[in-house]
Amino acid sequence: MTVRVPAKVNLQLSVGPVGPDGYHPLSTVFHAVSLFDDVTASRQPKGAGLRLAVRGQGVGEVPLGPSNLAARAAIALAGRVGVEPDVALLIRKGIPVAGGMAGGSADAAAALVACDALWGSHLPRAELHAIAATLGADVPFLLMGGTAIGTGRGDRLTPVLASGRFQWVFALAHEGLSTPQVYRRFDELTAGRQVPRPAIDSAVLEALRAGSAHALGAALTNDLQDAAISVRPALRAVLDAGRDAGALGAIVSGSGPTVAFLVADDAAAMEITLALSPSGLCQSLRQAFGPVHGARITAAA
Ligand code: C5P
Repeated sequence: MTVRVPAKVNLQLSVGPVGPDGYHPLSTVFHAVSLFDDVTASRQPKGAGLRLAVRGQGVGEVPLGPSNLAARAAIALAGRVGVEPDVALLIRKGIPVAGGMAGGSADAAAALVACDALWGSHLPRAELHAIAATLGADVPFLLMGGTAIGTGRGDRLTPVLASGRFQWVFALAHEGLSTPQVYRRFDELTAGRQVPRPAIDSAVLEALRAGSAHALGAALTNDLQDAAISVRPALRAVLDAGRDAGALGAIVSGSGPTVAFLVADDAAAMEITLALSPSGLCQSLRQAFGPVHGARITAAA
């Protein structure tokens, strides 16, 4: 059973003050984009347990033990539906690893959908969503895809009306960033200040409704951007280079270090790719579009 799952970029990420549970309340607009991971779940003999293999770029940074989110997803689902997790999971990475695009969460969402089909449990979406939320804040959105507002930890979702399709260029970094480290830096940078409650900016929603890439480019915001730049100062030059090359908007994706450039068309995407490729500022550039669907079965044997 093979499931294809997209990456996400946050079109707006409003971060509130850290709570007693160590999490930050969020108001965010998630947008699923066409960089994909494929997760294949195959039956194993009884008692074989869970096997995990990962292929693709950056696999050295993916944990292969019990902390792997896809493995945790399969084990959580097995516990819920009362089967033994005798399954082999093969993850093929197209989403940058530790890139701020929720690649690990995407694999968890894909593993849930794949194992749910493999084991014939066919849980209602609401139940898969509930399991997803226990695995990580971004996992429920990767099940759903499209464009959606996320509140709470980012796991309470409301779909957003978006017209048309937006074109992106993503600048992938040479090395990943740790999400908890970026949130800690956010706490350090805001220490002694009143952090406002997170809120959605209506400009983002209006731009999405109108399908206006120009308006959306101007409305992109990310409260974690300064923290990500503080941990990885080189990101500032990446953002500037994309803006200089004509991006309609430039933003650090989630907790970084991937940088997202919103562009008007193929020619603009090419301009940015040509400007950044020889600069050595990033490891590689990828073109993508959004919104795209969430985790979905693409092949069943
Ligand atoms: O939920 P997830 O495992 O993706 O989050 C990784 C880490 O990011 C958390 O352990 C926490 O340190 C930080 N985080 C946060 N507030 C959120 C989401 C994540 O502080 N809303």
